[in-house]
Amino acid sequence: MPLKEFNDLADFQIPEVEALIRLATRLQQHPEPQALAGKVLALLFLSPSLRTLSSFQAAMIRLGGGSFVISPDMSIHGLETRSGIVMDGVAAEHLREAIPVISSYGDALGIRAFANRAKLEDDLADREYAVMRTLVKKPLINMESAIQHPCQSLADWKTMDELKVPRKGGKFVLSWAWHPKALPLAVPSATLHMAAMRGMDVTVVRPEGFELPQAIMDKARKAATQSGGSVRETADRREALEGAHIIYAKEWSSTRHYGDRVADAKLREELQDWRVDDPWFTTTRPDCRFMHCLPVRRGVAVTDRVLDGPRSVVVHEAENRMWGQMAVLYQMMGPGA
Ligand code: CP
Repeated sequence: MPLKEFNDLADFQIPEVEALIRLATRLQQHPEPQALAGKVLALLFLSPSLRTLSSFQAAMIRLGGGSFVISPDMSIHGLETRSGIVMDGVAAEHLREAIPVISSYGDALGIRAFANRAKLEDDLADREYAVMRTLVKKPLINMESAIQHPCQSLADWKTMDELKVPRKGGKFVLSWAWHPKALPLAVPSATLHMAAMRGMDVTVVRPEGFELPQAIMDKARKAATQSGGSVRETADRREALEGAHIIYAKEWSSTRHYGDRVADAKLREELQDWRVDDPWFTTTRPDCRFMHCLPVRRGVAVTDRVLDGPRSVVVHEAENRMWGQMAVLYQMMGPGA
């Protein structure tokens, strides 16, 4: 399956995702250190990263290619992202030139964008990323935008396969977790869709005011209809956790007060008990695993004893970022292209 774009797992059929995961496992077990010899991956980071930044570079090295990174923190001319403004401020370069220039140096481009977290409808439509997408003529990888994180989803699917977490009948709980700041919807949105597409029975559990937007829920329900899974949402944590195979914790913004930092902060100030801890696993399956995309604040979203305990698979997920992305890169620029 040659790949021109990797933006959303929903753009793929279930067997296509399964094929990518098989390829990732094959490349993990049988290295192909010349598969991308002479190929260059351009990486544009408009927001911070540890895993994505390092795993893409490691992936290219393991496949025999190279990569370069551009981010506003580097010694560049600043990067203006807004459209139609007079650039008489600090930034002396606009994304409208920077993106075509960077992509002309590579055989493929990865973009880590950002969520404005001002208007919910803008972030749901992934407006910033959509503009950048129009500037790229090469194969393009979404390395996280306002509403997508397909590389994380691919890694998480692979991780659950390796742990033999059932697809049919597997109970996946996506839980809101406490955090002092209002964080984006990309990971909860992508994770919900991934688990629904994998055929699992998915429960989103969150406090009132943090409901996932209807459009995200509807999209996941459609995926669940095709896969044989199910999707529901509740505020009842005790009931949600019963029989869970997976607790996947993620911090996200209030959707009731999206873009209103003060109202969001007020709503979350009483919610510090939404910190995953051992008692959360009392009624789950005994072998229930803890997942999180990282980075995670210890003692805030989850306790040390859960993170350091046998249930936590967060490092396994992070490692699978690299193997999954190697499969994507192979299909974009290598023998699979
Ligand atoms: N999970 C994830 O995307 O991590 P980074 O933000 O460190 O890349």
